[in-house]
Amino acid sequence: MPGMIDLHCHWVPGIDDGARTPGEGADILRRLRRLGFDHVVATPHMRPGLFDNSAAELRDAFERARTQMSSPELGDVTRPAGAAGPLPEVSLSCEHYFDEVVLQRILRGDALPYPGGSAILLEFYEVAFSPAVEQSLFRIQRQGLTPVIAHPERYRPLWNQPDRLSRLVELGCVPLLDACALVGKYGEQVRACATALLERELYGAACSDAHRPSDVDELERAFHWIEARYGADELTYLFREGPLQLLGGGAPTSL
Ligand SMILES: [Fe+2]
Repeated sequence: MPGMIDLHCHWVPGIDDGARTPGEGADILRRLRRLGFDHVVATPHMRPGLFDNSAAELRDAFERARTQMSSPELGDVTRPAGAAGPLPEVSLSCEHYFDEVVLQRILRGDALPYPGGSAILLEFYEVAFSPAVEQSLFRIQRQGLTPVIAHPERYRPLWNQPDRLSRLVELGCVPLLDACALVGKYGEQVRACATALLERELYGAACSDAHRPSDVDELERAFHWIEARYGADELTYLFREGPLQLLGGGAPTSL
């Protein structure tokens, strides 16, 4: 299905636990393009203590990757054996780990919202929700940003109580499904939670969260699963209409 947008992908090389080389990053992008993605948003980690990336460093890494991938002299570097075909358009955002340090960066405008500037990708601590999370989300919304919650199916507080996510949706947050969870990439509990959240229609969009080229194969399996269970319209909603709304006209750039 053409025209899809991937809102969460770690294809920028050498900046986090995503692609390790420009060739691997390009391989991820080409595979996503073959699957029907016209636009892939780079969302490298900003997670103090683990991936100490500032917004400026991520901008530099993104521009470096674009230069490497568009340079004819570096064609061999970005074209591993067997990988061919056009690249999708790309843009830069970030997976913001939602701690106090990153919250302050977001509040002072030193973060990387999605293109269009009206939504921002947030990753929560997986084991427990902070008691202050609602207050912090409200402060972000007052900046004019819609909080997009990365892979809620991985958050343990939701495994036994998926309806807790409804509260955050009521507050204006948009949950973003990592579709690979549906085919068991992260284990049975995450798979069951993703299915429960999808059944409750709580997701506003879906993504690949690809770190390696082989993750795109998992995504293709997830496509088949979603289409068989809910039909092609669900894929259109999760990977085209939902992302378009969150980008609000934010345009990609060519590689
Ligand atoms: Fe991610």
